[in-house]
Amino acid sequence: MTGAPLPAAAVRAAWCWDGADVELAPIPGGLINATFAVRRGGEPIAVLQRLHPVFGAEVNLDIDAVTAHLAGRGLTTPRLVRTRDEAAWVVDDGRVWRALSWVDGIAVHAVPDPAWARAGGELIGRFHRAVFDLDHAYHFTRAGVHDTAAHLARLEARVRIPLVPSEPGGGESQHAVELGREILDAAGALPPMPSLPRRHAHGDLKISNLLFRAAAVPEAVALVDLDTLGQQTLAFELGDAMRSWCNPRGEDAATISFELPIFAAAIAGWTAVAGGLFDDAERRSIVVGLETVCVELAARFAADVFDDAYFGWDPARFPSRRAHNLVRARGQLALGRAVRAARADALDVILTTR
Ligand SMILES: Nc1ncnc2c1ncn2[C@@H]1O[C@H](COP(=O)(O)OP(=O)(O)O)[C@@H](O)[C@H]1O
Ligand SMILES: [Mg+2]
Repeated sequence: MTGAPLPAAAVRAAWCWDGADVELAPIPGGLINATFAVRRGGEPIAVLQRLHPVFGAEVNLDIDAVTAHLAGRGLTTPRLVRTRDEAAWVVDDGRVWRALSWVDGIAVHAVPDPAWARAGGELIGRFHRAVFDLDHAYHFTRAGVHDTAAHLARLEARVRIPLVPSEPGGGESQHAVELGREILDAAGALPPMPSLPRRHAHGDLKISNLLFRAAAVPEAVALVDLDTLGQQTLAFELGDAMRSWCNPRGEDAATISFELPIFAAAIAGWTAVAGGLFDDAERRSIVVGLETVCVELAARFAADVFDDAYFGWDPARFPSRRAHNLVRARGQLALGRAVRAARADALDVILTTR
């Protein structure tokens, strides 16, 4: 995030990056951590990151193990850079800092066209193939990330006992009651989620977490943002990726769309590399996951209209967090409906892509 304080002298010294030839510059555009590019003699060598408090420091041990495995399989990946004392992270003023080796590439915040989706799909396929036989017990896990039933139950409870209109946020909460009921209806119409194996997964495959080399035919180089590594079903791993990749014009209800050509290109790239590892039922679950995560996220945004507690918001565009979350909830519900309308076509893509 921009505006984060530069790392303290003690943090820089832990990695011996306190010399005059080392320069630190914030990288804007990240969503969760505060990230700084580390340059020595002008050459980028690493990123130094202050972790968001939702991640336990032990996540760095998982990143170390998984990226070592990826590198062993020949993938380009950031690697954990230990401190001069061989520590995997340092704590400064209660916050965890860690460093990762630099990977050259560009991050985009929306999929420019299907060729990028194809390249991104291939990279994710290389990742899934590489971790398919990984043997690793995670030190850190975030429980309940895609516990759809729990997110829906929370919204249901809020809708039943809304704030009174005179309370702060009471006005938005009235709108959220109506919207919440629509979201719960949409949830009732979701296809059933089959029982699926949990695979080693990245956990947050939004397009800005892939580094690309722009060329006539774009190439995807490496996955970054590895704090969500863990075990997840393919339905949620790829469903969540496709939710954001295939809606390239932003998350407000007015601009949302589900772009089937982006979906088809991403699935083609991924299937060419990793499709053979998964049976038809597991591959079909990607479409169930895609529709489910839209509704699940709509429910989480809508619940936060009542709670006013969780999601960051943009004060330049909205008068309050509640107002921003109301718009986001509407957007995700609209996206869920667009995906539902395209459900048969998306399943067709999965089953005809080999
Ligand atoms: N190892 C790396 N090498 C080069 N750039 C990186 C690396 N890790 C992250 N970045 C850049 O920093 C941005 C933010 O990092 P990320 O780990 O995704 O943080 P956040 O969780 O805040 O999104 C990325 O989108 C990418 O542009
Ligand atoms: Mg990121």
